Amino acid sequence: MDNKIPLLGTGLNGLVGSRFVKDFADKYEFDNLDLRNESRPIDITNEKQVMSVLSTSDSKFVVHMAAYTDVTGAWQQTGDVNGVCYAVNVRGTENLVKACAETGKHLIHLSTAYVFDGEKKEMYVETDKTNPIEWYGKTKALAEEAITNSNIDWTILRIDQPFRSDAFEKVDTLHRIIDGMKNNKLYPQFSDHYFGPTYINDFVKIIDFVINKKMTGIYHATSGESWTDFEFAKLINEKFALNFDLKAGSLAKYLETSNRPYQKNTALNIDKIKNILDFKQKTIKEVISECANL
Ligand SMILES: NC(=O)c1ccc[n+]([C@@H]2O[C@H](COP(=O)([O-])OP(=O)(O)OC[C@H]3O[C@@H](n4cnc5c(N)ncnc54)[C@H](OP(=O)(O)O)[C@@H]3O)[C@@H](O)[C@H]2O)c1
Repeated sequence: MDNKIPLLGTGLNGLVGSRFVKDFADKYEFDNLDLRNESRPIDITNEKQVMSVLSTSDSKFVVHMAAYTDVTGAWQQTGDVNGVCYAVNVRGTENLVKACAETGKHLIHLSTAYVFDGEKKEMYVETDKTNPIEWYGKTKALAEEAITNSNIDWTILRIDQPFRSDAFEKVDTLHRIIDGMKNNKLYPQFSDHYFGPTYINDFVKIIDFVINKKMTGIYHATSGESWTDFEFAKLINEKFALNFDLKAGSLAKYLETSNRPYQKNTALNIDKIKNILDFKQKTIKEVISECANL
């Protein structure tokens, strides 16, 4: 496509971001605020650096995907507002909010189902109260607050356990299970832990849709389905014909021996966005079959 649309982003080298760049390279002229950018490294925790890029860009949107995403690493930093998790997730987001306010840009922020406590029996809706139970979720909830309390145009897209069709340097939920089965090292999978898998190949189309429609507000943007770890692994075992001897495990039992809190249910209801989308997301069964046949 000629005349590509300028688009600022953070985290565009990450698991989700790099797939967005790959699938929309013809449409957007991406400009990544990233430490790895050799000619112009940007640390989003540095307010001046963030401001300098936003103030000289023609992009109307900033798609903010950069985050400290290591949940166990975050747990080890619990309460540490000087730690890297808080710095990237909270201060980094605050810097982007400030710079968007100064430059009139619309912030599209990626968030997580870990802002919830996981105690709800049904799928979470956008109006449910956030109540994070561990540090990663807490910092992501604080980032959401920095955005929702601002006067900028904003969109928050919450996802859960994202995975993509192709293997990436950071191993996602699908590829962790495939690798574990192939190497005969997969632990028993919890049959009492519920989550809402997010197929990244479809999710990046939602980001594009949000930009096209200039949508604002909070949206859940997973597959909209609820799976246990065990059922999800069973589906992969079948569709990829891995013939692994899959065993069921129990999160409740595991929690008796673990200090680290774990959300029991992070499945998200997506009716709000589903009713607006101009395309149909694939079901998880369709996706896994498709991935198995690649
Ligand atoms: N993965 C999940 O399970 C999951 C679940 C729910 C929500 N999310 C959310 O979805 C978004 C994308 O996640 P992901 O899994 O794609 O992330 P990821 O693969 O861990 O990538 C994170 C990105 O953030 C960048 N980054 C970290 N610190 C930075 C800093 N100080 N300045 C600039 N860039 C920095 C990293 O840059 P380098 O490449 O240079 O290190 C990397 O590209 C995040 O907001 C995350 O919270 C993820």
